[in-house]
Amino acid sequence: MTELSSRIAGIGSHLPERILTNDEISAMVDTSDSWIRERTGIRQRHIAGEGVTTCDLAERAARRALDDAGLAAEDLDLIVVATTTPDFTFPSVGTMLQARLGATKGAAFDVQAVCTGFVYALAMADNMIARGQARTALVVGAETMSRILDWTDRSTCVLFGDGAGAMVLQADETASGPERSGILGTYLRSDGRFKDLLHVDGGPSSTGTVGHLRMVGNQVFRHAITNIAESMTTIAGRSGVTIEEVDWFVPHQANQRILEGVARKLSIPTEKVISTVADHGNTSAASVPLAFDRAVQDGRIKRGDLVLMEALGGGFTWGAALARF
Ligand code: ACO
Repeated sequence: MTELSSRIAGIGSHLPERILTNDEISAMVDTSDSWIRERTGIRQRHIAGEGVTTCDLAERAARRALDDAGLAAEDLDLIVVATTTPDFTFPSVGTMLQARLGATKGAAFDVQAVCTGFVYALAMADNMIARGQARTALVVGAETMSRILDWTDRSTCVLFGDGAGAMVLQADETASGPERSGILGTYLRSDGRFKDLLHVDGGPSSTGTVGHLRMVGNQVFRHAITNIAESMTTIAGRSGVTIEEVDWFVPHQANQRILEGVARKLSIPTEKVISTVADHGNTSAASVPLAFDRAVQDGRIKRGDLVLMEALGGGFTWGAALARF
């Protein structure tokens, strides 16, 4: 059976209006704007208003991506939502989004790989398209991380934000060879031994509560640089391209120092690294499509460019995706 390529037909994103500055957080916990900026690069983050849910953010991003693709909801036969902060334990945000958009064909589900969620979701959709199980897929990363933060814990509450990003993938029979466009490869990894370094201390079958995010930040930091660099060189090698040939790097936006550490390790010029961490903070599964969309909107990423996406998150999970946009 011939495998089909997944063309990126459209992209969109959405950030809630409310901006929470470092100075505002400094009035809540013992921290400062200068500490947060120096250690993380974060200046501000967006926070969903009361009553606004992950599905609300996902819907706004999804509608923009569909508009950008010039497609309608009824064209979709697959919806994959990456989220760690779903509206409910069930049903999935994916099926709720399917109903909101008015899509009725195919399947919808959620993927839970924390900050690597969008890369995992992209891999699911790309593989289903390749096998002919879907033709037009909506892939969303959406989070309301603010709802699982301990707002008295300065070591975590300063880091995260809310938002959503979405991509529409379409089966493409015509493209083949090295110049083909769309998703050129995905690479997924996990190692469950590191749960205690980054986790949420609650859940339906353990505490019966939602819980709060807990992280041993400095240890996560070390793993992040090593694993992210490994996933980037692996995906490039498997796809037959060199790191130098990549036009743009769209990393998960955890910390500006991680972005710069990885760039240094792989000798990547920082101008090629899309960074939104200053304005968005860490939006977990939403951060890669949010950053990708911003760079498309401001004219940096253009059609035909070679783009490498990567992430690491709780689990640990990590991975990368290479695409010709
Ligand atoms: N303001 C002021 N001081 C603080 C703050 C704060 N907001 N947070 C921690 N500190 C203090 C600590 O208490 C500690 O004080 P001590 O030395 O008196 O004990 C000191 O700062 C140093 O703490 P470290 O944790 O060693 O600081 P570090 O330089 O490592 O920065 C940070 C912390 C920003 C969290 C960093 O480790 C990091 O970004 N880690 C990676 C996070 C990440 O990649 N997450 C990815 C996935 S997230 C997901 O999947 C959900």
